[in-house]
Amino acid sequence: MLPENVHVIDHPLVSHKLSIMRDKNTSTKDFRELVSEIGMFLTYEITRDLPLTTEEVETPLCKAQLPKLAGKKMAVVPILRAGLGLVEGVLRMVPSARVGHIGMFRDEETLQPHLYFCKMPPDITQRDVLVVDPMLATGGSAAAAIDELKKRGCTSIKLMVLVAAPEGIEVIHRQHPDVSIYTAAVDSHLNEHGYIVPGLGDAGDRIFGTK
Ligand code: PRP
Ligand code: URA
Repeated sequence: MLPENVHVIDHPLVSHKLSIMRDKNTSTKDFRELVSEIGMFLTYEITRDLPLTTEEVETPLCKAQLPKLAGKKMAVVPILRAGLGLVEGVLRMVPSARVGHIGMFRDEETLQPHLYFCKMPPDITQRDVLVVDPMLATGGSAAAAIDELKKRGCTSIKLMVLVAAPEGIEVIHRQHPDVSIYTAAVDSHLNEHGYIVPGLGDAGDRIFGTK
């Protein structure tokens, strides 16, 4: 059973597009476009509970009290490199969001995350933060990125991924129980190299064509 703050967004369009991404014969161009498209769909669902207020708008016919977004502004924080692939989709849904970058790579032997870059908007602590990365494998990279954001004073953080392993979900739930996880799929397990099975391979390499 998944913890209650894990949300699997298995809309048929999302599931279909993710299956195309999983295909090892999908080209870099298509893979990159699909990451972005799914990022847009997931953002649509993640923002479903944004609070609304009412404001007066004058339509061509009359004045009316109409819904407008209220509440805190958003920041999207991709975990470099692969998280970059999701940013465009988020910004298409929330064009006013600011973008922070956090550079994290996973040591191939130890699977431990290493932070190499962090640049956030100056008002990041005032914003709802959406951390994005296609893959949640051991959970080490996402947990370390969230640690860094909390160290800087962020209090409202959500995590969006495309594919999550049960192991990674468990790590985030244990270390950051306040952070909700949104994913397009929960896969079976990690292999001996820390890759998600069935997964989609190395997301960064497939987005940027580096292998
Ligand atoms: C990948 C992926 C995640 C991380 C997931 O990045 O994009 O950031 O691995 O693994 P974890 O949950 O076990 O930490 P990678 O380190 O390969 O860097 P890249 O995005 O630059 O390719
Ligand atoms: N990082 C990836 O890009 N893919 C995996 O399956 C695990 C970590």
